[in-house]
Amino acid sequence: MKFFVDTADTQAIADLNDLGMVDGVTTNPSLILKSGRDIIEVTKEICGIVSGPVSAEVVALEADAMIAEGRKLAEIAENITVKLPLTWDGLKACKTLSDEGKMVNVTLCFSANQALLAAKAGASFISPFIGRLDDMSLDGCELIEDIRTIYDNYGFATEILAASIRTINHVQQVALIGADVMTAPPEVIHKLAFHPLTDKGLQQFMSDWEKTGQKIL
Ligand code: E4P
Repeated sequence: MKFFVDTADTQAIADLNDLGMVDGVTTNPSLILKSGRDIIEVTKEICGIVSGPVSAEVVALEADAMIAEGRKLAEIAENITVKLPLTWDGLKACKTLSDEGKMVNVTLCFSANQALLAAKAGASFISPFIGRLDDMSLDGCELIEDIRTIYDNYGFATEILAASIRTINHVQQVALIGADVMTAPPEVIHKLAFHPLTDKGLQQFMSDWEKTGQKIL
């Protein structure tokens, strides 16, 4: 499963990238706001750090304007993925931009039928938001499962990008289901390495090692 980082924090992206943990990046208008930076400037910087797909989201709501914004964003770098909302206008823009050979990530997906439409419109990625479904006491991971089944039934090439990941359990669940990609905030990716038994075991080993009085170096 590919790991995308869901942030516009360039330092956090660079740190994880140095560890080989970054296959791509996703941003959205809220993350741009959080960064306090200009969208073009920060997106260009991210594309200079990461060689994989970097999603930059349009903010227009009408197809022609989305297409124009998408083309402008795509000029930033070769690895830009134009992020479009799952509306009919977004799907129309997806078809046009995909036909032009641009990568498109269709976002704000909350149903398997929406994911089916995005695949038919030629999306490179579909982003089902599992955390926001869980927030409503619905099962976000069940949606990933349904989309996996539908895409496999018909051999769609669109990659399932599990988004709105809030916990390490989400990461494990979507990996078990077979999502192609997951995007998570840097904090969640860092937490994946943590286990209390690892810390406890390490503490014991350190204490026993000290008693040996030995040194390796
Ligand atoms: C995905 O591309 C979105 O940027 C993101 O995962 C949304 O997550 P949130 O629901 O935690 O805001």
